[in-house]
Amino acid sequence: MGIFDSFRRDKHEKPIEDTSRNGEIEIEVEEPVEEAPEEEIPEEEVPDFQEEESTSPYGKGVEMKPIRSYSEKKPVNHVIGTTKVIAIINQKGGVGKSTTAVNLSAALGEMGKQVLLIDLDPQGNATSGLGIEKNQLSHCIYDVLLADTPLVDVIIPDVSQELDLVPATINLAGAEVELVSEMARENRLKDAIGPMRGKYDYIFIDCPPSLGLLTVNSLVAADKLIIPIQTEFYALEGVTKLLESMKRVKNRLNPSLDIFGILLTMYDGRTTLSRQVAAEVRNFFGDQVFETIIPRTVKLSEAPSYGIPITQYDPQGKGAISYVNLAKEVIERG
Ligand SMILES: Nc1ncnc2c1ncn2[C@@H]1O[C@H](COP(=O)(O)OP(=O)(O)O)[C@@H](O)[C@H]1O
Ligand SMILES: [Mg+2]
Repeated sequence: MGIFDSFRRDKHEKPIEDTSRNGEIEIEVEEPVEEAPEEEIPEEEVPDFQEEESTSPYGKGVEMKPIRSYSEKKPVNHVIGTTKVIAIINQKGGVGKSTTAVNLSAALGEMGKQVLLIDLDPQGNATSGLGIEKNQLSHCIYDVLLADTPLVDVIIPDVSQELDLVPATINLAGAEVELVSEMARENRLKDAIGPMRGKYDYIFIDCPPSLGLLTVNSLVAADKLIIPIQTEFYALEGVTKLLESMKRVKNRLNPSLDIFGILLTMYDGRTTLSRQVAAEVRNFFGDQVFETIIPRTVKLSEAPSYGIPITQYDPQGKGAISYVNLAKEVIERG
C-alpha cells in the first residue's frame, strides 16, 4: 500500500459521516481517483481529415507569456454591470469544454467585455492554451480552494485582450481528495469568486471531466451552465446524470442555477451522423441549444499549441467565426 493509499483512506472516509451528521447536503460525488488524471483524449478524437492543410508543426512558435500579478492589470475602461458566472461543464472528456472556455472568453474580451477564465481542470488545458507555462507557476486555483489564498492573488491579468486567467496546475489533482475532509467543501469556489463579482462582465469556469467535488464546486459557484455536446455517437450519454447533479445542487444550494445554453461542438456537416446528432440534441433541448454550431476544424486543435485563441491564430477561419458568433449569442442571451 502506497503513502497515497493510506492518506486517501484517512482523509476520504471519515468526513462523509461528518456531513450527514451535520445535516449538510449530501451530493453524490464521484469517487476521487488515485492516479494522475488520464490523458482524456482518445486517439480517434484527434481530427484526422486532410482537407485543411496544417500550416505549422505542433509545439513550434509557442511564445509563453509573462506571469504578471493582478496589480499590473491594465485599467478597465467601462462600467461593469452584473457579473455572470458561467460554468462550462460536461463530465465527458474531449467534448470541447476547454476549447470553448478559451475561445469564447477570448472572443468576448475582444468584443470589449471584461472576462475572467478560471481553469478548474488539473490538466490545465485552458492555462496552457492561453500561453501560460504551468511549470513557472507558484500558485494556482488549488491554493484558493485549499489554502485560503484569495482569488485575486492567483489571477494572471491580460493573457489576451480584456481576458484574465486563474490557472490550474497538476497540484489541483490532489484537490478532489483533499476537499473531502474540508468544511464547507462545496462552497469553496463560490466564496472565492464572491469578492471578484462586479469586476468582470463574465467569469467562466472550465470544468474537469468528472462529477467530483471540483465540478460540484463549480455548480455551486455558477449562475448558469454552458454544456458543450460533441456531435458524435453517444452525444447525450451522461447528460442525464449531469442534469440530475445540476438539479440536486439547484434544490439545495444554488436555487437560481440553470442551463444558459447547450453548445454543439466538432460538427462535421459532411456526415449524416453529425446532422442526426445535432437534430436529436435540438429535439431534446429545444431552444436552449445555441444557434451557433462549432465546426470540426484542425485549426481549433492547433491553436492551443501556440498559446493563443483561435481569433488570433486563424482570425478569418470558420473556427474563429463560430466562436465570435457564439460570443454574440452569449451577449444577446443577457
Ligand atoms: N471544433 C473542434 N475541431 C477540432 N478539434 C477540436 C474542436 N474542439 C476541440 N477540439 C480538440 O479536441 C480535443 C478535446 O477538446 P477539449 O476542448 O480539450 O475538450 P474537453 O475540455 O471537453 O476535454 C482537443 O485536442 C481539442 O483541441
Ligand atoms: Mg478540458
